[in-house]
Amino acid sequence: MNLSSTETATTQSRKADHIRICLEADVQCHQATNGLERYRFTHHCLPELDYQDIDLSTNFLDKKLGAPLLISSMTGGTPQAGMINQRLAKVAQKYQLAMGVGSQRVAVEKPEVADTFAVRKYAPDILLFANLGAVQLNYDYGLEQCLRAIDILQADALILHLNPLQECIQPRGDKNFYGIIDKIAELCIKLPIPVIAKEVGNGISDVMAEKLIGAGVAAIDVAGTGGTSWAKVESERAENALQRRLGRTFADWGLSTAECITSIRAIAPDIPLIASGGLRHGLDVGKAIALGANIAGLAMPFLKAATNSQEAVDELAQVLMAEIKTVLFCTGNQTLEQLQSSGSLITR
Ligand SMILES: Cc1cc2nc3c(=O)[nH]c(=O)nc-3n(C[C@H](O)[C@H](O)[C@H](O)COP(=O)(O)O)c2cc1C
Repeated sequence: MNLSSTETATTQSRKADHIRICLEADVQCHQATNGLERYRFTHHCLPELDYQDIDLSTNFLDKKLGAPLLISSMTGGTPQAGMINQRLAKVAQKYQLAMGVGSQRVAVEKPEVADTFAVRKYAPDILLFANLGAVQLNYDYGLEQCLRAIDILQADALILHLNPLQECIQPRGDKNFYGIIDKIAELCIKLPIPVIAKEVGNGISDVMAEKLIGAGVAAIDVAGTGGTSWAKVESERAENALQRRLGRTFADWGLSTAECITSIRAIAPDIPLIASGGLRHGLDVGKAIALGANIAGLAMPFLKAATNSQEAVDELAQVLMAEIKTVLFCTGNQTLEQLQSSGSLITR
């Protein structure tokens, strides 16, 4: 299905709305948390370590990262979004972080905006994720559109995001999710690169993860509650009272990031696992990794920094890495692997 020019323009203005609303309105969860506040680290007053020997590097989907950090999927499709992606990509390249872009539907439909997503030229080596909504597979998207999204980015993996709540609230949302899992399974076989299943802030349970892993996804990004609430974002874009009320009622709906990580790790010890949703500093990242995630993604903090300046993104990356290093140092662990097996994280 090709979108009409009006629909494509709507998709573009939606992307602009999302950035504006995320920056100007209060769209963070207030009642739901990321769940990590239930844990704390045991402090080591005598770490047998020289701080400078701490190693944040890790491997994810066969690529080496300088730190266990992902700049989560956010945007593209407008000149402002292009500038944001460029700033994020330059910092991802500098520190060898992973990065995603926002849903590329608009670029698939409108090739002239593809450049606002095409960050490979700024980040030749990074682990880079393409992005499409899984529900589009029920609206005439298939292998061809996925390959196009991958090609625009020269991506290492394709994220298919799962956002049923957002689709319920947003004007004219795509709500037919019937049979999507079989289409994901087909793509996992036919695509030349791995597929990652990701939520957008409502979390992925162990039961859903098992289904997705059975379908062949190579990794899961839990994107749990506690941070940006897409119900709140969409209630700010509501065209009528019903949509506004739905957004407010479901503002804190979902599974916390911490419970997603622990429950998925319990049933899938080896699946590459991304923690995200409400992570706001390197201490959150350290806890998520100690709970069993391989890397951790942040969206909103990187959006704010990137709309500010190139330097602000650089500073944020440096602060996050210093915070993760401090977790390792003060728990007496030199590497992320050691942190995971150290038993340093305890419940409060
Ligand atoms: C402005 C903005 C746009 C987003 N667009 C997408 C998207 O197109 N695809 C996607 O998978 N997630 C998208 N997300 C969701 C994030 O990747 C992330 O899962 C969610 O915001 C929770 O992380 P946070 O609490 O760190 O913000 C977007 C987030 C923001 C802030």
